[in-house]
Amino acid sequence: MSAKLLNIKESIVMQMSKLAAEHGAIDLAQGFPELNTSDELINLVTKYMLANNNQYATLEGVLELRQAISTVIEELYSKKYNPQTEITITAGATEAIYSAITAFVDEDNEVIIFEPAYDTYSPVVRLNGGKPIYVKLQHPDYVINWEQVKMHVTARTRMIIINTPHTPTGRLLTHDDFEMLSKIVANSNIVVLSDEVYEHLVFPENTFCSISMFPKLAERSIVVNSFGKMLNITGWKVGYTLAPENLTKEIRKIHRFVTASINKPVQYALAEYLNNKSYLELAELYSNKRNLFTELIEDTKFKVLDSESTFFLLLDYSKVSTMKDSEFANHLTTKYGVACVPMSEFYHQKEDNKVLRLCFARPDEVLKEVALRLTKVV
Ligand SMILES: Cc1ncc(COP(=O)(O)O)c(C=O)c1O
Repeated sequence: MSAKLLNIKESIVMQMSKLAAEHGAIDLAQGFPELNTSDELINLVTKYMLANNNQYATLEGVLELRQAISTVIEELYSKKYNPQTEITITAGATEAIYSAITAFVDEDNEVIIFEPAYDTYSPVVRLNGGKPIYVKLQHPDYVINWEQVKMHVTARTRMIIINTPHTPTGRLLTHDDFEMLSKIVANSNIVVLSDEVYEHLVFPENTFCSISMFPKLAERSIVVNSFGKMLNITGWKVGYTLAPENLTKEIRKIHRFVTASINKPVQYALAEYLNNKSYLELAELYSNKRNLFTELIEDTKFKVLDSESTFFLLLDYSKVSTMKDSEFANHLTTKYGVACVPMSEFYHQKEDNKVLRLCFARPDEVLKEVALRLTKVV
């Protein structure tokens, strides 16, 4: 049988989670916040359901939500996206990424992807006949070498995908990075896709730059975002795109045939909830958790790599074992009861730097137990 994604295996996160379940291990592989969802938000969804908002929403999304997003983005980044023509509500960032890539990437187009990379970008590029061109972020700092990027840009480059705050490393792109990117794409047809789903999970001592802050870049860029991480509602699957009208028009054409319409009562609830801005407290909460975990394992041979954001951290185990990271992740899960993701899985050539990714968006008690288990690893 022939099929387009025959060679794609089950995601490593799912594999590790299953292994965790089989062995009763603590699952730090899955990237979801194991924290409470706001009662206020849940009550708002009920309110809008009871008010009879239970049929299809319009294709581009509930206007009130698009207006609320527009206001938040303008307050944060001084960039006004027109709610009518430049904002589209999607089924999470996953659909936003799919619709954005599908709208613009065609047969034999090249798309620059930085590795380690979130696992959705490359398969979607390939589904559209495009060719992923990989540029590596150098371990252990994971910064972009723009000279290398320049060398990979050709007349066939259609898109550059950036991700800031970055998963799995938690690093942020700086003002200078955006200046370099801006120079590289000037006078080209390149569209930039900026995945900013961890926008509100930046630790207080760091500064986040959105691509929307850079007018020259914003006019050729699509921002994708998600309420999942921001509000502890990954299961609700609501996200959005921000893009100039000419790009938004094309994204909406794909969106129409993928989902056409997103959960309506949830959109109304989010619109009302966004006005109180309590999501901004999350960064501090995660920063405290990261600090707690780092302190707890200070006396072990594991080393937490520097990070500035997200609810993931990278653990260097090179002083603990010489096993390959995939083997070591299995070993840690089955023998010590801690499941995480081997970093090599975020590279198409499975580069192994003896690093694991852990999701620390878990109750403090769970993090203490994980640290205790890690101290026993020899
Ligand atoms: C970098 C990145 N982009 C996109 C997504 C997908 O977001 P959503 O769950 O809203 O589809 C995720 C989810 O883990 C992610 O980590």
